[in-house]
Amino acid sequence: MKIILLGYMGCGKSTIARYLAKSNGLTFIDLDKYIEKKEALSIKEIFSTKGEIYFRLQESIYLKEIIETKDNCILSLGGGTPCYANNMNTILESKIPSIYLRANIPTLVNRLEKEKSTRPLIADLTEEKLIEYIGKHLFERAPFYEQSNFKINVNGKSVLEIAREIETVLH
Ligand code: S3P
Repeated sequence: MKIILLGYMGCGKSTIARYLAKSNGLTFIDLDKYIEKKEALSIKEIFSTKGEIYFRLQESIYLKEIIETKDNCILSLGGGTPCYANNMNTILESKIPSIYLRANIPTLVNRLEKEKSTRPLIADLTEEKLIEYIGKHLFERAPFYEQSNFKINVNGKSVLEIAREIETVLH
């Protein structure tokens, strides 16, 4: 059994994946953490020393590697993963259920303001610029996310509520 969680930065992919994995006896795999381990560098360091294009190439390679080699796991992707290198088609063709955790702009801004430092794309943005950036970026990315097999609105919901909704749609 495999499940893929995707969505914009700050939508809760890793938190929900970790919870679901624990409560269903599955392995939790976070694509960013997997890349960091394989490359022996943090995401921030990969962006600053090797550039975003290198990151996107590695991200696509490691996504395929996990899809092909890992089982019984819940995989949380990076926010950009579905939007580059034909990755969304790879995900859909794998037939692994994909779930979009759909958060609105206020939810994302609220969360990302507090935890932007580890995310190279937004680390240096002021609060005002962050709102504008998320608005535009989400608009560009939503068409990829919306191709997921299932979509769950996460605004104002607890981890437990979201996990239950995911379990319901998958059964
Ligand atoms: C990115 C999201 C990050 C990470 C990288 C790029 C993006 O993952 O992959 O900083 O393009 O949205 P999270 O969504 O887990 O923050």
